[in-house]
Amino acid sequence: MCGIFGIIYLGNKQIGKIALEGIRRLEYRGYDSCGIVVHKNGELYLRKDSGKIQEIQDKLKFDELIGNIALAHTRWATHGAPIKKNSHPHLDCKNEIAVVHNGIIENFISLKKELLSKGHVFQSDTDTEIIPHLIEEYIKEGIDFKNSVIKTLKRCKGAYGIVICYSKEPNSIIVARKESPIIIGLDKGKVSYCASDIPALLPYTRDFYILGDNELAILRPGDVSIVNFKNEPIEITKPLKHIDWSIDAAEKGGYEHFMLKEIFEEPNALRRTLKISENELKMFAKELMDAENIYITAAGTSYYASLAGKYIITKFLGKYIQEIECSELENQLLDSLKNNSVIIAVSQSGETIDLIEAIRWARKAQKNIKILSLTNVVGSSITRYSDLTIITQAGPEIGVAATKTYTTQVLSLGLIGLQIARERNVLPKEEIDSYYDALKSSPDIIEDFLKKTNHSIEKLVDNLEKNANYFFLARGISIATAKEGGLKLKEVACRFIEGYSAANAKHGPIALVREGFPIIFIAPPDESYERLVGNIMEFKARGGHIISVVVESDEIISDLSDTVIRIPQPANKYYNLFSPITFIPALQLLAYHSALAHGLDPDQPLNLAKTVTVH
Ligand code: M6R
Repeated sequence: MCGIFGIIYLGNKQIGKIALEGIRRLEYRGYDSCGIVVHKNGELYLRKDSGKIQEIQDKLKFDELIGNIALAHTRWATHGAPIKKNSHPHLDCKNEIAVVHNGIIENFISLKKELLSKGHVFQSDTDTEIIPHLIEEYIKEGIDFKNSVIKTLKRCKGAYGIVICYSKEPNSIIVARKESPIIIGLDKGKVSYCASDIPALLPYTRDFYILGDNELAILRPGDVSIVNFKNEPIEITKPLKHIDWSIDAAEKGGYEHFMLKEIFEEPNALRRTLKISENELKMFAKELMDAENIYITAAGTSYYASLAGKYIITKFLGKYIQEIECSELENQLLDSLKNNSVIIAVSQSGETIDLIEAIRWARKAQKNIKILSLTNVVGSSITRYSDLTIITQAGPEIGVAATKTYTTQVLSLGLIGLQIARERNVLPKEEIDSYYDALKSSPDIIEDFLKKTNHSIEKLVDNLEKNANYFFLARGISIATAKEGGLKLKEVACRFIEGYSAANAKHGPIALVREGFPIIFIAPPDESYERLVGNIMEFKARGGHIISVVVESDEIISDLSDTVIRIPQPANKYYNLFSPITFIPALQLLAYHSALAHGLDPDQPLNLAKTVTVH
């Protein structure tokens, strides 16, 4: 949450323009206010306000700022309302030290009291503002810039990705990290950049240093030195990480919104993910086959991907996998986590703090536990706490709503399941091959669906929007699809639309149904199909307006439905198993068009940010 960007050049340049571009590429991390500070010839120049980046740029003309250092920030408010005074950057009393911060300083109240008693004057309600003042205090004592920063950070509890500059040290900026991501890129000898996420640096480099917890980097133009500041600050050498993302993938490329573009990118993202190496799959499969207890954990969309994946893997593994929302993992396993357990942790960003804390706790609680992770981001925090990691190949996802990262997560879990099927010989080879063929066809099925159906989903939205409420209902593996569909609508279209188990809906939610109440049934022809027919009848009997998502050749549920969305895939068990991948684009499009119908920006839902790095 919050996007930060820093840059240092050898001489003065139109640096505001570059910083502006940097935070534009991070706007999905927070978009309630923003600001840029520039250093030029010993002075700091600050511009900031509340609102979206473009609105503020139109007013304040960030792009005209000239200097050799710029720090920029796009905010998702935690401490202090999203108003001008609380926007970053924040300065010390003398306007010499500037800070941008992503994270939360948990002990800011006591530090602020101490600083107030020493005469410091605060301009904002934020936790962040204590940082420049504390640094100022240490500098006053005669300590140099770097050591003042280190002393300050040692007193701060909580999480931070932070960039700091000091007008009296115009040849360096300091970057530090504890729990909130920071990456660094260089153009050797000329310019250094840092940011809280990869898309910001894609125009300049594909090779990054990824700062670890308690590490601090001193950036000089085109050069960096890194220390671990927890103990004695000894310089460390870090390998560069190469990230193979194209810059086009982080641009809208002619689409009106990233969300729509990313839905249309699903086929290729899946094709890339199908290439995960057999070796990686084998290692995952072995750990799962050897484990006594297996848990799968995640948040939000990744959690629903885990629900679908758990069904697929369990089918071939023959062992139960317990799904647990990551924020509840510690509560639920406090008294029962055993040594020979495996936790599969799923996260698009690899930075979700609830997930990171859950796996850190599990590691501490049981030494021999194995953490297997699935993430879309090379070098993200989760990879550091994992024994094995598979990187999904969705490419950068800028829309706050997860779309292509969801389908690539389910596909990766599907590949792991099939690897297990192969190794355990649970089925005749031809059957396993048929499952493989079905999984490999998922990109083509989605491509075909998107070509034919975008328009008819728009029409369906016109109809649905007349109703205040509706449900997505399903049974079996499709409950994951229904839940993910409901989450998408809440998130981007601000509609309280619930995804629910069709069987369980009789135990309460059915009370909402009146004449014309719409219910969308997710209905691949799997083992739960006949029972779902029964559920449809129950809702029809009460006047429900039935919309169904079915396969091309479906007849029974289609005949019972008022509106039908057809997914162009064969009607057999091999394809059914991967229907969480092939059926979800219909619901993603529904949410997208519903957001537009409400005049909302689907890329920047209210109150949200893409990566949730606060508790
Ligand atoms: O980066 P992660 O996958 O760990 O994020 C988890 C959730 O915050 C995320 O999936 C969220 O629910 C999506 N933005 C929903 O579209």
